[in-house]
Amino acid sequence: MAAAKPGRTFFTRCAFCSLLVLALWVLTNNTDWRKEIAASTEVVSQYGERGRTLFQTALTNNGFPVGQPVRAFVFAKTHKTGSTTIREVLATFIRRNNITNFAQRAPFPFIAGYPGRFKCEFLFPRGQVVDVIHGHSRLDIKEMQRCISPKAKYFSVIREPWTQFQSTLQFYGRHFKIGKAPSCFGMPVSRVLQGRILSVTNFMMESHRILNKSVPWYFRFKNFQAHDLGFDPMLQDEFKIKLKLLELDNKMDLVMINEYMDESFVLLKELLNLDWDDFVVVDKHKRSYEKVKLESPEHIRAFNNLSNIDIALYQHFNSTFWKKVNQYGRERMAKDLELLRNSRRKAKAKKVAKREASFHGFKQRQFVIEENEKMPLEISHRLADYMAQNSGSCFLK
Ligand SMILES: *[C@@H]1O[C@H](CO)[C@@H](O)[C@H](O)[C@H]1NC(C)=O
Ligand SMILES: *[C@@H]1O[C@H](CO)[C@@H](O)[C@H](O)[C@H]1NC(C)=O
Ligand SMILES: *[C@@H]1O[C@H](CO)[C@@H](O)[C@H](O)[C@H]1NC(C)=O
Ligand SMILES: *[C@@H]1O[C@H](CO)[C@@H](O)[C@H](O)[C@H]1NC(C)=O
Repeated sequence: MAAAKPGRTFFTRCAFCSLLVLALWVLTNNTDWRKEIAASTEVVSQYGERGRTLFQTALTNNGFPVGQPVRAFVFAKTHKTGSTTIREVLATFIRRNNITNFAQRAPFPFIAGYPGRFKCEFLFPRGQVVDVIHGHSRLDIKEMQRCISPKAKYFSVIREPWTQFQSTLQFYGRHFKIGKAPSCFGMPVSRVLQGRILSVTNFMMESHRILNKSVPWYFRFKNFQAHDLGFDPMLQDEFKIKLKLLELDNKMDLVMINEYMDESFVLLKELLNLDWDDFVVVDKHKRSYEKVKLESPEHIRAFNNLSNIDIALYQHFNSTFWKKVNQYGRERMAKDLELLRNSRRKAKAKKVAKREASFHGFKQRQFVIEENEKMPLEISHRLADYMAQNSGSCFLK
């Protein structure tokens, strides 16, 4: 299971990564990202090695005094859904309330085995019950309950699937260009493109045709949101999907909706007893790019098939979301939206919102499990194997 020469393997790998990063950077600077990905397919394929690389506001407050900040929670941070802005809000809340017992991201930016389902054995800090998760982990509430405070509230955010799909393609394309990460970031985009340049719609059609579990990170374009919430992205059976949805709904205290972010924030404030001041964060990660509509019946059919669970997920939780808003009270919601927007306006005027967001991807090398004191070597090998078994390898087979 573990490599024979672990120490050297890691250093060699790091050296490879640096070379790869440099090569990609030189190769890809200053051109259209799709061309870059096309060009880089070759570079990636040289590495044949296996990779190591209902109501949201519960009636009882889980034992926290009513009206007091909730100091234990799991934010199931989905990808390309606005979740980083929410993380910023939570980070402010965490700092303000001196919460220190939160899970660390290892390898950055992942928690406890991602893209494998959450496993306590890969949680850092090790060997203790953690109060807060607010990074990318793959939801498994049953397992989480073994090593996360029993008082924790569970919540997440989802986004209209076709918009999220486009955002995902734009993001991984862009990061591949920036080239600060090893080849994982280009997966499975480079695999789908195979040297071609495709429109987003044709990219989707190709994804539909070729993506499967043996392609590393295939799930980024196959029910990505459902994947992060613990589903098997390949699940087809509608009845099983419905059951899993109901089970999830039953366990989650809140599922926020990207398209209704302000209303979602008001419900989140209610759930955790946030302060209006916690919302004073910059929406740093919003990028604008041209969005395409799916029009032809052929494209719509393919996307409905490709993203079958994400679509069911969105329909379900968008509908329960509005029930929750009604329960919260429409008038009360309208008032709170005004308060939320007011506190943002005030912050803007005072320029309080200038705090540097620590955005993953630009400053740190990603997906590289490094030797360090936090993670014993034996565990990091097991972790790398676990990630690879769950389509989280960095390399083509
Ligand atoms: C957090 O710590 C600071 C400094 O130790 C203290 O002034 C503040 O009252 C604490 N806040 C909370 C909510 O415990
Ligand atoms: C999975 O996808 C790869 C790449 O597209 C392909 O080579 C392989 O045959 C596929 N496997 C299955 C089981 O469909
Ligand atoms: C999607 O397509 C596959 C293969 O063509 C088919 O077996 C499956 O039933 C379709 N799934 C849905 C949800 O339509
Ligand atoms: C979400 O649900 C609401 C209420 O049913 C509906 O009006 C709206 O169109 C839905 N939003 C999206 C993006 O589908």
